[in-house]
Amino acid sequence: MNGMPFDLQKIGKQQSTYFNLLAEIGHTKHFGGLAATKRLVEIIKPKPGHEVLDVGCGVGIGAVFLAEKFGCRVVGVDITPRMIQRAQDRAQRKGVTELVDFRVADMHALPFAGSHFDAAIAESVLTFSQDKTYVVNELARVVKQDGMVAFTEAIWVRPPPEGKADFMARAGGMPEGILTHEEWRAIVAASNLEQVVAEATPVTARQESRNQAGRTSFDDYIRSFGGFFKAITRPEYRQVFRSAIGSTPRDFYKYIGYGVYGGRKIAN
Ligand SMILES: C[S@@+](CC[C@H](N)C(=O)[O-])C[C@H]1O[C@@H](n2cnc3c(N)ncnc32)[C@H](O)[C@@H]1O
Repeated sequence: MNGMPFDLQKIGKQQSTYFNLLAEIGHTKHFGGLAATKRLVEIIKPKPGHEVLDVGCGVGIGAVFLAEKFGCRVVGVDITPRMIQRAQDRAQRKGVTELVDFRVADMHALPFAGSHFDAAIAESVLTFSQDKTYVVNELARVVKQDGMVAFTEAIWVRPPPEGKADFMARAGGMPEGILTHEEWRAIVAASNLEQVVAEATPVTARQESRNQAGRTSFDDYIRSFGGFFKAITRPEYRQVFRSAIGSTPRDFYKYIGYGVYGGRKIAN
């Protein structure tokens, strides 16, 4: 790592309000939902005894899934302290506290020695960085030689109509908005990973609701309804909600999909 180009203090207020709202609701998501997570799993091939890093773990849905299904150890990190509390609660409810460890950390400066993990994943997290290739290399740094880095992001599968492109960027504080598949492919190609994976998958509204339902239990829904109605009493959260989730374009699924990217770490 050649010095950190970002100041933790400078994380935009907009981003942190958005992340805190999601943490209060108690639910985080990524496009592609369970289908995208399963594709990351195929790439990283987690096994019992492996240690996997989940960067930007949110409320811990992916990390707990990996621990429960594959018996691997998972360390989840997230910039939002409330997400980490939520993730710890989730691990407790699911009975996997022996296998998971959650802590607050920034993806630009992971608090781990080089070549530590067997694999690293991130689900809808790199989009919040201003230097995405730098973050890919930071994930690669903490993975052992020959280990895999894999991540998923929302992508434009065709150019959105004028004025629609930046609605999520405005709301969620994505510095460059949603990127295209080619832009993500170029980011990974410029990184220290080899045998690069770059796959784009369009989704329909119906497929996407199935993808999301696959990673959300009935119990999760009830909890997030409760969290939502509590959070929405606060004006700053109401405003984020209105400008983001509330203003999703109706024909969104004509343009949106998810990409899966990654590769193998070949050298330190
Ligand atoms: C869209 S949510 C996705 C959460 C989770 N991966 C999932 O799929 O449910 C993005 C997450 O990235 C976290 N995040 C944003 N910037 C970060 C940073 N610089 N370092 C670590 N985590 C970050 C946010 O706090 C939030 O939990």
